[in-house]
Amino acid sequence: MSESGFLWGGATSCAQSEGGFGEGGRGQCHLDFVDYVPPERRIDRRGTFEVSLDRYRANKSLGERLNAPFRRGNDFFHRYKEDLALLAEMGFKCFRTSISWCRLFPTGFEEHPNPEGLSFYRRVFSECRRLGMEPLVTINHYDTPIELVERFNGWESPEIIPHFLKFARAVIDGLGDLVRYWIPFNEINMAMCSPYMGGALFVERSEKGRAHVIHQSIYHKLVASALLVAYARSVNPSARLGAMLGRIEPYPLTCDPRDVARSLLEDQLNLYPVDVMARGFYPPRSISYFKENGFEIERIEDDERILHEGTVDFISISYYMSYVVSGQDEKREPIGDLVKNLKNPYIHSSDWGWGIDPEGLRITLHRLYDRYGLPVFVVENGLGASDTPGDDGRIHDLYRIDYLRDHIGAVRRAIEEGVDVMGFLVWGCIDVPSASLAEMSKRYGLVYVDADDYGRGTYRRQRKDSFFWYQKVIASNGEDLG
Ligand code: BG6
Repeated sequence: MSESGFLWGGATSCAQSEGGFGEGGRGQCHLDFVDYVPPERRIDRRGTFEVSLDRYRANKSLGERLNAPFRRGNDFFHRYKEDLALLAEMGFKCFRTSISWCRLFPTGFEEHPNPEGLSFYRRVFSECRRLGMEPLVTINHYDTPIELVERFNGWESPEIIPHFLKFARAVIDGLGDLVRYWIPFNEINMAMCSPYMGGALFVERSEKGRAHVIHQSIYHKLVASALLVAYARSVNPSARLGAMLGRIEPYPLTCDPRDVARSLLEDQLNLYPVDVMARGFYPPRSISYFKENGFEIERIEDDERILHEGTVDFISISYYMSYVVSGQDEKREPIGDLVKNLKNPYIHSSDWGWGIDPEGLRITLHRLYDRYGLPVFVVENGLGASDTPGDDGRIHDLYRIDYLRDHIGAVRRAIEEGVDVMGFLVWGCIDVPSASLAEMSKRYGLVYVDADDYGRGTYRRQRKDSFFWYQKVIASNGEDLG
């Protein structure tokens, strides 16, 4: 932070922010079929997060009647100028968003990109540049054209890779003069938690077992990522490409060696996709773990070379929480699942049960920098909370300020201790529907959006107290966290 190039800012994704459903030649993606499930109908967290084939079919049959929050987002498609102006007013140096695959290739099978889609993103990133904000572009933040999902079972099949590369090349060719920082895939490990969201696949459609199909889909993404990285560098040597990990810092429940060993394994599995992206090969422990679970990854010809030649320049993470791992089977869910909440008595949790742990962020930053020796970029952090306007009609989100103060403080300490951190981005900087629950009530923004879980509201933007606080933080380059 002491250096002037620190990238302060915020992040969203196209599916969670844009809306503009059916406009500008946009096709449909798999997230368009995720419905909002009200709390009283939720069975468990997994039930909302994971869309089964049956639920997908039922949702599809509802057509326009489906309450599908990702079709609405926060209406960024129509309000991007106003939104970017608000972010610039806060002093943002960097704005991260993603490109809608089905806005460029409505079914995924077209030969050439939809010019209207490309022109939308050119306007967005030109406006960012005009306002002095560096765009950070996630090429794919989950959303996958539904025709590709139906034909290939998403990322289960290697046949999706050429379609993805056609899309990625169109993005790099069409936007490369405006964008220098790229992330091929959001949270490359996410399919382990939610195969539908992260892998665009239905595990029950596959002949492979659950673990096999999940890790197979991650493998296909890793190959696609490496090919993309090599392409981006070949057309623009100054492009900077990053891995992106959904990081949840695991702690052993006790000093019982079984707890410690299990926590180590969770860590190895959380990190292996980034090991591949940073080092160019699968770490041995991931391969032995696949074997222990009775499968091997089916590999593509020449993949060793491909993975080796497509390594990244930086490691980016989302970080929201730590969690506690037990070595005893009955105390934990299957590996990598998000997340059996064993109570950590030393920290508090958010209203959504996520363990609030700034020290965990400092630990994570050290761990990643020690492991890879590459710059680390916190591209998502923030507090999901329900914001209620006070008597004066304003949002006094002091809880969010507290959360961010502590986490930015942790980043600052890590930097002082020697970690090379590129920047810090607040997730969902303008309220968006939550990814895991498809609900607007779980808000992360510094800017409030007047919309509810059913899409009712004016969508009017309003600055929260955290807006003015973050403005001060950025102006002081992180010195004034008061
Ligand atoms: C990350 C995702 O996992 O966490 C975002 O990249 C997501 O898309 C964010 O919104 C927060 O999670 P949630 O489920 O609270 O929205």
